[in-house]
Amino acid sequence: MTMLSDPLPPLEALRWSVDAGADEAIGDAPINRYAQEAPAPPSFAPEPARADAQATTPSTTTPSAAAISPLAQDSRRIAQSADSLESLRAALETFDGCPLKKTATNLVFGDGEPNADVMIIGEAPGAEEDRKGAPFVGASGQLLDRMLATIGLARESVYITNVLFWRPPGNRNPTSAEVAACLPFVQRHIELVSPKVLVFVGGAAAKTLLDRTEGIMRLRGKWYDYQIPVDAGDAISIPALAMFHPAYLLRTPAQKRLAWRDLLALRAKLGELTRNAP
Ligand code: URA
Repeated sequence: MTMLSDPLPPLEALRWSVDAGADEAIGDAPINRYAQEAPAPPSFAPEPARADAQATTPSTTTPSAAAISPLAQDSRRIAQSADSLESLRAALETFDGCPLKKTATNLVFGDGEPNADVMIIGEAPGAEEDRKGAPFVGASGQLLDRMLATIGLARESVYITNVLFWRPPGNRNPTSAEVAACLPFVQRHIELVSPKVLVFVGGAAAKTLLDRTEGIMRLRGKWYDYQIPVDAGDAISIPALAMFHPAYLLRTPAQKRLAWRDLLALRAKLGELTRNAP
């Protein structure tokens, strides 16, 4: 028979939790998980997937997933009303539609040259980014800086942001709802920077912004057309490249060979665009 011992005094219970790895308080109120239905597995790719999602050839894409829920419609209206990067940032500062904001320390908006030719979009801020309020400033950011430098791009000459503007607690995968709430702001972010080339680093960014379901192994190393809708059903196309995330390369250095190939493709595309510029 199991004997139940007396509960620990609160301070000891807290110490025990911290020792066991619970280093963040992530909610204002306790949650009775026994009373909840089993949640759907977290997914980074917003549903529904496009009908052509299984195609392995490079495609033209306009992300459509956020058009479905009222919350996403609200995000879209707020994001679209921003006419500058400053007003987009201000809109996010007051936007309460993404629950990640409650647990994050800082909004992580963007960094770099607002008129950059190259806009890099990663997944979500980590602990260091959350502390500093800037994207890619931790270990993977340092590798990203070195990767860019190998093809002659200084970090200050590009613009960097993420699909998520707030850190998911404990770096967990964000839910589809969190991604859908942020997506209209990311789309507006791209419109406002209006780069010549987009680079999606990691599967999460690539899948979300290309509206695809394949993993990064299939998506990387290919060029896609990211479409920005404009008036009268027309669209502006921006070439977009998917690459491995630097955090993955830190864990799997053998894949740097493929990342190098992708960096060369980026350099070639920039050269081509410069040569063809009017
Ligand atoms: N990983 C990301 O995807 N983004 C950051 O800003 C930091 C780490």
